[in-house]
Amino acid sequence: KDLAPIKDVYQDDFLIGNVASTSDLGGVRLDLLKHHHNVITAENAMKPDATQPTKGNFTWSDNLVDGALAQGLSVHGHVLVWHQQTPAWMNTSDGVPLGREEALGNLRTHIKTVVEHYGDRVISWDVVNEAMNDNPSNPSNWKAALRKSAWYNAIGEDYVEQAFLAAREVLDAHPEWDIKLYYNDYNDDNQNKAQAIYSMVKELNDKYAQTHPGKLLVDGIGMQAHYSVNTNPNNVKLSLEKFISLGVEVSVTELDIQAGSDSQLTEKQAIAQGYLYAQLFQLYQEHADHIARVTFWGLNDATSWRSESNPLLFDKDLQAKPAYYGVVDPDKFI
Ligand code: G3I
Repeated sequence: KDLAPIKDVYQDDFLIGNVASTSDLGGVRLDLLKHHHNVITAENAMKPDATQPTKGNFTWSDNLVDGALAQGLSVHGHVLVWHQQTPAWMNTSDGVPLGREEALGNLRTHIKTVVEHYGDRVISWDVVNEAMNDNPSNPSNWKAALRKSAWYNAIGEDYVEQAFLAAREVLDAHPEWDIKLYYNDYNDDNQNKAQAIYSMVKELNDKYAQTHPGKLLVDGIGMQAHYSVNTNPNNVKLSLEKFISLGVEVSVTELDIQAGSDSQLTEKQAIAQGYLYAQLFQLYQEHADHIARVTFWGLNDATSWRSESNPLLFDKDLQAKPAYYGVVDPDKFI
């Protein structure tokens, strides 16, 4: 409680987020969540498999969304279209890709129903997640760089555009809502991947603007930022500036930095981790005009999806690590 709230340190710059499930909306975890953050992302609860496990049967995370809002936390929606945590019926039948029209119908129905249901209780959506291959060899040809996912196999290379168009249709019917539509991906520091993402978003937005002058199809790019202590912050800078040059907003959507192993962190490793967090937050602050939100992917090391590599700001006992101090006072830390 004595620690400076991260959200206050960056209140003039961008929102500070973290993942949350309903079990985080009480006790000491809620205290930590509220003290440092002003926005949450559901780590799993709003993914396609959780939301529409069987065709036409939707399971809503209203308790989480309304519970967060009641605590004064905003909500970012994650995720509408992905190749993981997606029920097989949406795009395959007995392991074989569905025909284009049927898969497109499933994609559109899912997106439209979910975006309509949550409405402006969310501030933004990850419309499509992780559509690109990891290190494409010819990144300007973004279509060739698309992951051959079940959605790709069933619908074809325009499935990303179709997903954004479906979400955009809902928003167009509700001009009173202010919801941003994001493309979200990892390995964002890899320059080939960043170039492929850049090329795709540029082409989709340029095409859309021909029929909707001055309007964006893709509002933002999410840099997941699942890094390690060996990540070169100059590559992060290059990617960030490349995305900003598209005229879209950027959010850092799933930040964590692997350090150490086997849930052990030496002092030296902890400081190296804090140093990279500090370098990143210096960079984010320099570009704050174009960054909407910085979200960490976990409250503390013990509950991280990669807990063995100690990636977060707070340890298993919820105590602040050097990483926390790197975030709240980068200049002093460096
Ligand atoms: O809910 C089931 C439970 O019923 C079952 O008994 C248990 C047995 O394995 O699994 C539980 O599901 C797990 C789920 O998390 C909920 O805890 C899955 O196995 C596990 O694979 C799943 O992992 C999630 C992962 O996405 C799945 O791809 C992580 O929590 C989540 O942090 C991670 O988040 C992703 C982002 O959505 C997209 N970007 C990458 C990021 C990290 O992988």
